[in-house]
Amino acid sequence: MLLTTGTRCLPHLPFALPDVGEDEIAEVVESLRSGWLTTGPKTKRFEAQFAEFVGDGAEAVAVNSATAGLHLALEALGVSVGDEVIVPTFTFTATAEVVRYLGADPVFVDLDPATLNLAPDAVARAVTPRTRAIIPVHIAGLACDMAALAAIAGSIPIVEDAAHALPCTHAGRLIGGLSSSAVVFSFYATKTVAAGEGGMIVTRDHRLAERCRRMRLHGIDRDAFDRYRSDRPAWFYEVVAPGYKYNMTDLAASLGIHQLRKVRAMQARRAEIAAQYDLAFGELPVDLPPHSATGDEHSWHLYILRLLPGARVDRDAFITEMADRGVGTSVHFIPLHMHPYWRDTYALTDGQFPNASAAYRTVVSLPIYSRMTDADVRRVIASVLEILGGEGGSA
Ligand SMILES: Cc1ncc(COP(=O)(O)O)c(C=O)c1O
Repeated sequence: MLLTTGTRCLPHLPFALPDVGEDEIAEVVESLRSGWLTTGPKTKRFEAQFAEFVGDGAEAVAVNSATAGLHLALEALGVSVGDEVIVPTFTFTATAEVVRYLGADPVFVDLDPATLNLAPDAVARAVTPRTRAIIPVHIAGLACDMAALAAIAGSIPIVEDAAHALPCTHAGRLIGGLSSSAVVFSFYATKTVAAGEGGMIVTRDHRLAERCRRMRLHGIDRDAFDRYRSDRPAWFYEVVAPGYKYNMTDLAASLGIHQLRKVRAMQARRAEIAAQYDLAFGELPVDLPPHSATGDEHSWHLYILRLLPGARVDRDAFITEMADRGVGTSVHFIPLHMHPYWRDTYALTDGQFPNASAAYRTVVSLPIYSRMTDADVRRVIASVLEILGGEGGSA
């Protein structure tokens, strides 16, 4: 029998919503009134606060997206034509496209079904003399096995795609606090710290940081803020490389400053929601999202369920039935080897990535964000139970 929830009369519950409060709004308004809209004092402040947050002498370089940050980090490491960079197939296209920006080739690896993160043994098999970097992605906010990856990488640089990973830990240390060459965070509107658009490169390699700073703004040796406040004449600058236009605006930084202050509280709410989902869905024909095997912190950027073969509906029908109940869901990820560009360019087949191909058919991401009320959470739970837990709901 179906549960009666009355959910069909309720307004749409979005899959994701940023948690923007009055502090963020006041800070943006203050920037607008100050007249300083582009990279300026707020961006500097956000960088300083972010560096302090990750700690251990990190430098933080603010950019206008994680995609830009990944591109700059690889560029600074000297990745270029003919090089290979190892990436998971189970990720967003940004992780791999930045490799192509530099004329290098991504080498795709399968996932570990226990974590949905890239499988260290698959990484080990993919290393060749042309490998110039490895990009692990902390899927959903569960840290990759960085110790295993570091052992495999040896002297090959690791650039962590930490778009989902703010904040999460590996072996008790914050992602951003390990010894990778660079770690790149995203502040896209749906991320755990949302600035609309934005990203942060974290590194302890001063030369890499300097290169990223220069290349984020046209290869110019000073940014607009420096030109405004330094002793040198404001009109003078020198172009020392063919750079990009990847600088963060002070409007985005205004959001980031306050979002970062609240990140622990927002994460705690996400973790609370994840725990309620876990409790409610334990008896359903689903695999619950993987947790850290070592008790590490999960950022809970995403809550990814996997529908088991015995479920009453398949993944696509589940999404439709959730939508019928006004609840937004999403799919993370359509593996890159299934997208026409990557599949055709590199002659990729599902058979090369059996775990990611199988996971793709079953994964569905439920709403999980700090603005969700208890009633919202109950509504998601009731909807899932109606669809999967009713008569014939399990194998
Ligand atoms: C795993 C991963 N990497 C990179 C990105 C790109 O982030 P941004 O939108 O800040 O460029 C995303 C965005 O969703 C992502 O999910």
